[in-house]
Amino acid sequence: MLSIVTKNTLQNFDLKKQVCLITGGAGFLGLKHAEALLDGNGRVVLLDVNDERLSDAVSKLKRAYPRRIWGYQLDITNENLVKKTVNKIEREIGPISVLINNAANNPQVGQGQKDFSRLENFPIEVWQKDFDVGVTGAFLMSKYAGSLMAKRGKGVILNISSDLGVIAPDQRLYRKEGLKSHQQPVKPVTYSVTKHALIGLTKYLATYWAESGIRVNSISPGGVYRNTPEEFVQKLAKLIPLGRMATQDEYKAAILFLCSDASSYMTGANLIMDGGRTVW
Ligand SMILES: NC(=O)c1ccc[n+]([C@@H]2O[C@H](COP(=O)([O-])OP(=O)(O)OC[C@H]3O[C@@H](n4cnc5c(N)ncnc54)[C@H](O)[C@@H]3O)[C@@H](O)[C@H]2O)c1
Repeated sequence: MLSIVTKNTLQNFDLKKQVCLITGGAGFLGLKHAEALLDGNGRVVLLDVNDERLSDAVSKLKRAYPRRIWGYQLDITNENLVKKTVNKIEREIGPISVLINNAANNPQVGQGQKDFSRLENFPIEVWQKDFDVGVTGAFLMSKYAGSLMAKRGKGVILNISSDLGVIAPDQRLYRKEGLKSHQQPVKPVTYSVTKHALIGLTKYLATYWAESGIRVNSISPGGVYRNTPEEFVQKLAKLIPLGRMATQDEYKAAILFLCSDASSYMTGANLIMDGGRTVW
């Protein structure tokens, strides 16, 4: 029996002031992941390329959780900077125990006629940039933070995928009246492929580091409501058994579960949390 798992169920969610990194931590959901880990008694480091957004996020979280939140500006696509920043965090804050690979470019649905999001027009430069952030960034962060955790024999990596990491986008959701089929806006190919790739990275790392005490999982969240146009919400809701999008706080309990000892017998898994969308 593992000694880390206690008989008191709730105690297994306690992060015991462990240092937790969140890439893209200043973004919309990054902040929510941070709240979850802070509620779980973690020390949280937000990593983001956008300095202004990062300072705002850190100040906001500091008000509610003083002394347990930090921010480091970092472009996760730059190997040299990733290596330096990971080492700096270990020196300045302490040994890293949790890494959430959350940053993404989130390529948006195109705007129709003049748009480059359709596969036939999709520029290789955009393909490369979306991959750099969504996949290469997760690989680099895992390479440096994960290797340190592996040396110490304990750690958790959580990759943020998507429901579209499991199923193809239903392009009918984005159709606009009056446009010919070859002009219809679509969810870009890179969203699908980067999100599927993260699930592949999860399985690879989970088995690679299983004997080093590192657990690696991913989560596939469905779309979160954020002033989403009503017409789109109605169309999307019809594809979801629970009949609605997620609210911004609905993934927090799952994030804490996956990052803490509460999920100690789980590795290489992808937790699908999508209101049932992928079941239909
Ligand atoms: N919002 C949703 O409905 C939803 C649904 C499913 C999955 N997801 C996934 O959740 C994650 C977070 O989504 P979000 O809605 O918070 O996105 P967001 O765009 O609000 O946040 C992404 C953050 O990543 C940062 N970033 C971009 N490039 C970077 C780089 N090179 N280095 C470091 N940071 C970089 C951005 O500055 C931004 O703060 C993404 O992986 C997304 O695909 C989101």
